[in-house]
Amino acid sequence: MCGIFAYLNYLTPKSRQEVLDLLVTGLKRLEYRGYDSTGVAIDSPDNKNIVMVKRTGKVKVLEDAIQELFSGSEYSDPVMTHVGIAHTRWATHGVPCERNSHPHRSDDTNAFVVVHNGIITNYNDVKTFLAKRGYEFESDTDTEVFAKLVHHLWKKHPNYSFRELVEQAILQVEGAFAIAVKSKYFPGECVASRRSSPLLVGIKTKTRLATDHIPILYGKVLPRSESTSEFMPLEEKEVEYFFASDASAVIEHTNRVIYLEDDDVAAVRDGTLSIHRLKKSLDDPHAREITTLKMEIQQIMKGNYDYFMQKEIFEQPDSVVNTMRGRVRFDGNAIVLGGIKDYIPEIKRCRRLMLIGCGTSYHSAVATRQLLEELTELPVMVELASDFLDRNTPIFRDDVCFFISQSGETADTLMALRYCKQRGALIVGITNTVGSSICRESHCGVHINAGPEIGVASTKAYTSQFISLVMFALVMSEDRLSLQTRRLEILQALSKLADQIREVLKLDSKVQELAKDLYQHKSLLIMGRGYNFATCLEGALKVKELTYMHSEGIMAGELKHGPLALVDDSMPVLMIVLRDPVYVKCMNALQQVTSRKGCPVIICEEGDEETKAFSSRHLEIPRTVDCLQGILTVIPMQLLSYHIAVLRGCDVDCPRNLAKSVTVE
Ligand code: F6R
Repeated sequence: MCGIFAYLNYLTPKSRQEVLDLLVTGLKRLEYRGYDSTGVAIDSPDNKNIVMVKRTGKVKVLEDAIQELFSGSEYSDPVMTHVGIAHTRWATHGVPCERNSHPHRSDDTNAFVVVHNGIITNYNDVKTFLAKRGYEFESDTDTEVFAKLVHHLWKKHPNYSFRELVEQAILQVEGAFAIAVKSKYFPGECVASRRSSPLLVGIKTKTRLATDHIPILYGKVLPRSESTSEFMPLEEKEVEYFFASDASAVIEHTNRVIYLEDDDVAAVRDGTLSIHRLKKSLDDPHAREITTLKMEIQQIMKGNYDYFMQKEIFEQPDSVVNTMRGRVRFDGNAIVLGGIKDYIPEIKRCRRLMLIGCGTSYHSAVATRQLLEELTELPVMVELASDFLDRNTPIFRDDVCFFISQSGETADTLMALRYCKQRGALIVGITNTVGSSICRESHCGVHINAGPEIGVASTKAYTSQFISLVMFALVMSEDRLSLQTRRLEILQALSKLADQIREVLKLDSKVQELAKDLYQHKSLLIMGRGYNFATCLEGALKVKELTYMHSEGIMAGELKHGPLALVDDSMPVLMIVLRDPVYVKCMNALQQVTSRKGCPVIICEEGDEETKAFSSRHLEIPRTVDCLQGILTVIPMQLLSYHIAVLRGCDVDCPRNLAKSVTVE
C-alpha cells in the first residue's frame, strides 16, 4: 500500500536530474506497492523553494513528465547536498488524481512536504483543529494533515529542530504510517518515521562504514540549542541516504540498511543520521543494527522474462530448493528448522495449532492443514486474518498461532498476530521478508527464502510457504514411530520436487493454447477436493486478480449441493482428478459434470488413460505423494491465469485496484 522513497546526498555532487532519476528508479522498484498515482519533490534551482511534480497513473507517466519539465541546464548542475522525496500511491482516502497524489504540502509555499504510506485514523480531528487555525485543505487525503500539522508546530515552536517538529507531529497522530518529510526551512535535512508501516534507511559511503550500529537516542522534545549535542555522528563525510518502504528500492545503491522500528524517528542533519525515540521501554535495545542485505540486484530484475510474475513462476524449481536448503537432509532423512527448533517441545504440548493469513498465504494453510492434522495429531484451525479478528476468536495461552505472510506487513495478519500475542499464545511467523513486522513481532519463525516476489500476484511465495509448513509437520512427527513410513515417503517426494516442477513448467505452451480457448469467456469454475481443494481456491484467486474474469474454486464434494446448477455445455470448467484417496469421489464429480454436457479441462496424472478418457482437454502432471500434489497442480493454474491475462491485455504485474503489500485493514 503505497511506496515511499527519499534520497539525500551529502557532500556527494549530484545534479537534480540525477536525483530525479534516482527517485524515479526507486519508485519503479516500489511500484508493486501501489500504482495509481505518483509524485516527487526536489529543491528548486535557486535552492530557496521546493518544486513538486505529480501525475495520475504509473511511474512511467511521472518519468515522462519529469523529462519534459526538467530538461533545462539549471537541472543538470551538480549540487553537493540535496534531499528529494517520492511516492507511488495505492488510494485509500480520495480517488487517484494529481490533487490526491503525494507529496502533500503544508501551504502554497511548499514549506513542508510529506510522503506517507498507511492511514492516519484521527485525521478528521487533526483536520478540524487545523482548519480552525486557518489551514485550507486541497486534497481528500489523510496525509495532508501531517504536512500542515508540522507547519503549525513550526510556527508555534520556531526554535525546534526539524526532527523535533516531526516528533511532535507524530505524537498527535494515530494509525499507521511510514513518512518522509522535507522542508525548505531545513535544507539538506530529511526526517522519516514509521508506525506499523515498513521503512528502512540505506546508507552508502565511499569507505567501509566506521560503525555497524546507530545508537538510539531518547528524551523529551528539547529546544534546538539543547538537543544538538544529542546527535551522534556516523563519522562519514561524503554519504548518501535512501529511505524506502523496502529493500528492493535500495539494493542497487547499497546493501547496508537499518530497518526502523515502530516510533523510531530517523533524522539526517549535516550528513549525520540519528535515530531517536521519545519514550524508552525496558526491552528497547541501545542501538539499531546496520544489516547487510543478502539480496542480489538480479533478483529484482526481470531478466529475459516479459513480466515479474512469469519469472517468478519459472523460478519455482529453485525457490522450493532454497526453502529446503540447509534444513532438509535427504541422506539422513532429518529436518531442522533453526528458527523454531527451541520451541518445538512447547509446540508439541499445545492445545491446538492456528494458521492465520490472507489471500494466497491463507491458501497455503488450507493446502497443508490435512497433513498437519495427520502428522501433529493436533487440532488445526485455518483462519482468514480479517474474519478471525471480526469474530474476536477465543485464544488461549496454550495455543500456537502461525502467521503466514509473504510481505510480513499485511495489516490484517499483523493485527491478528498482536491480538493472539496479547492473549499469551506462542507466535510463529512464516514470512518471506527478513526484517518485516511479522518477523520481528513473532516469538520464532521460518523464513521461506523464496527470494523477492515483485509480481503483485503471489506465486513462488505460495509454493515456498506450502513447503515450509510441510517441513514443520515433518519436524513435529520425527519421534513418532508409527509415522516413519509416511515421513520417508514425503521426504523422498520432496527430493524429487524441483525436477517435477520443471516437468510441469514444460506444459507452458499447452497451457497457453488452453488460455486461447478460455480467455474470452466470462467465468471459469475450478473443482477439486482433498489435497487439491487449496489449488482450486488459489487458482480461482489468480484468475480473478489477473484477468478480471469471474472464477470460483469449488470443493467437488459440494457440487451437488448447489454449484452443479452452473454447469452446462458452455460453462468453462477445470477439474483436478488425481490418483489419491479421494480419486473415486473426484471421478463421481467428473461424471456429474460430463453428464450435464460439461466439457472440463482435466488436470490428471501422467498416463492416466482412464481419467483422460472423460475429456479431450487435459494437462498431465507427474505423480507425487498426495500431500505435495498441490504444489504441482497449482503451477498450471498460475500459468493459465498468466496467459489469460496477457491475452486479455491486462497488466500482469500490476493488476487493477490491487497492491502487493496490504498495510491497511
Ligand atoms: C494474491 C496475493 C494476495 C496476498 C495477500 C496476503 O496473489 O498475493 O492474496 O497473498 O494480500 O499478502 P501477504 O502474503 O504479503 O501477507
